[in-house]
Amino acid sequence: MSDTTYPPSDEFVKNAHVDAAKYKEMYEASVNDPEAFWKGQMGRLDWSRTPTKIKNTSFDYHNVSIKWFEDGELNVSVNCVDRHLAKRGDQTAIIWESDDPNVDMHITYNELSEKVNKFANVLKGLGVGKGDRVVLYLPMIPEAAYAMLACTRIGAIHSIVFAGFSPEALAARVSGCDAKLIITADEAPRGGRATPLKKNVDKAREHCGDVATLVVERTGADVGMGDRDHGYTALMADASAQCAPEPMNAEDPLFILYTSGSTGAPKGVVHTTGGYLLYAAMTHEITFDYHDGDVYWCTADVGWVTGHSYIVYGPLANGATTLMFEGVPTYPDAGRFWAVCEKHKVNQFYTAPTAIRALMGQGNEWVTKYDLSDLKVLGTVGEPINPEAWNWYNEVVGKGNCPIVDTWWQTETGGHLLTPLPGATATKPGSATTPFFGVQPVVLDPQSGAEIKETECEGVLCIADSWPGQMRTVYGDHERFVKTYFSDYKGYYFSGDGCRRDADGYYWITGRVDDVINVSGHRMGTAEVESALVAHSKVAEAAVVGFPHDIKGQGIYCYVTLMEGEEYTDELKTELRNWVRQEIGPIASPDYIQWAPGLPKTRSGKIMRRILRKIAENDYGALGDTSTLADPSVVDDLIANRKQD
Ligand code: WT7
Repeated sequence: MSDTTYPPSDEFVKNAHVDAAKYKEMYEASVNDPEAFWKGQMGRLDWSRTPTKIKNTSFDYHNVSIKWFEDGELNVSVNCVDRHLAKRGDQTAIIWESDDPNVDMHITYNELSEKVNKFANVLKGLGVGKGDRVVLYLPMIPEAAYAMLACTRIGAIHSIVFAGFSPEALAARVSGCDAKLIITADEAPRGGRATPLKKNVDKAREHCGDVATLVVERTGADVGMGDRDHGYTALMADASAQCAPEPMNAEDPLFILYTSGSTGAPKGVVHTTGGYLLYAAMTHEITFDYHDGDVYWCTADVGWVTGHSYIVYGPLANGATTLMFEGVPTYPDAGRFWAVCEKHKVNQFYTAPTAIRALMGQGNEWVTKYDLSDLKVLGTVGEPINPEAWNWYNEVVGKGNCPIVDTWWQTETGGHLLTPLPGATATKPGSATTPFFGVQPVVLDPQSGAEIKETECEGVLCIADSWPGQMRTVYGDHERFVKTYFSDYKGYYFSGDGCRRDADGYYWITGRVDDVINVSGHRMGTAEVESALVAHSKVAEAAVVGFPHDIKGQGIYCYVTLMEGEEYTDELKTELRNWVRQEIGPIASPDYIQWAPGLPKTRSGKIMRRILRKIAENDYGALGDTSTLADPSVVDDLIANRKQD
């Protein structure tokens, strides 16, 4: 690992919101007296009722409870739209860049206000009210942001399902939160191809019941409208552009977002109104050093938490200009990101290491032919970034002039927890560096659970106290929340990640320590892929592990045992691959399926996944003790039949 440091230039520091001295002073204040610190940050939002209670949180296993600003009241759409109108009604709020490189759109705050108010009235007209759940299954179009903000205006709780998920996965999420309405589009164009979203909704409704559906006409394709379907354009045309905002308690749920865990079905992460919005706004401004008038672009999808916090809520709460991109990095060619940066004069650019690695492989000409001189800050998120990709991003994209912020956080955390601040932190390629204000990371010994006090150490990454953006519960299952995050290491929030802390106190994320894998920055539970595989009639048993993948970070490696009498053929491998795509979605496509007539099990029948991981990684020297296996010879067989690199 490289330990070269990259301090920000003097010129950058001069204009930055936070320099090194201010970081130190503010960080200390934030952990010494969190109450006073966060009270001091409250003014970032407009409250209809100012909170008097700031922090009321407990990580005690017997009584996990997290409340911030609990007697405060506010409305998210007021904070993201209304309050900006007087000063910046005519400023662009959203730049929309379509999949088609010749189509884009600038939406001002005034226009955003009109759309959000009308959309809120459309929702009311469809019977949606405060506390109701609304599922969004949409392309990256401005209507996705309108829909989110419209929900917040009337106090409805949105649950966004990434448009790459299958009808089966969608149905589970619609039922999971008992949604009153689905908002979708006819089709989602991406990379020149269209995903039939409305058709997928129709298939999903065969499983989850005939939930009412609002259909945005994105391509105008004829998708067949039934009794429970409503066209967006017609309803918007008739809707009033005035809808009074619902005052919400700071702890009222804002949204649910399903994410994968190490066991069972995905869980509905619940974020609430006040703390989440404050944390998203503050981190957006400070981590990216966003200044008035800047153009900011995060390439994520609103189907993931990154899109929630850093395309919509954080930027719009700050009155920023945020770019929404419908397409993919390689369409129409590998220069698309940089063409868009040049065209819209992007100042802050935020993407995932997997995209950087993929583009790096296409050659520097795709970058150098565009004028990227407006770029000031580059960000990454989703997985560890290898120093080679970091260096390429720094030199070829940033011309050595743009601080790189490697932001470590999770769906559960609402916003950045570990990140450099561009005007304050000397970065090291591959390290997420140091904590954001109010965040108290600790490294625990994985076996004993004791906190390691030495600066240089390695262990599991936990957080010692709450921050406002923290998730509050698992939707409908508080016990699962407590069990997942607060029971393995008592008194701490357990992140599920391992890390190393170096002599300078910098954190280096080493990856998940549970059965969650990270495929192209997307989180996937190995248990989910396994249950999809065993749902196939020919599969008796399956075990899924991650393995190192040059572009994706991790790939999906499946060991499959067939039912007695079934034939192990290449055709069946293809069938199983398609089956998983159909059950979960293309992001869960197995990269490799290995036939495993026998799986390594203990005498009590437990699959020894550690061994399967090592075989997938091609690391036989480190198989460890296999003597407790019921039949040690299965390991030799698996090694003999391992995938060829
Ligand atoms: C997991 C969370 C947070 C938005 C995107 C993913 C990994 C995330 C980094 C980073 C190393 C990272 C962790 C984490 N991760 N950012 N900068 N360096 N690893 O959100 O789907 O909730 O996944 O992504 O393993 O636990 P998510």
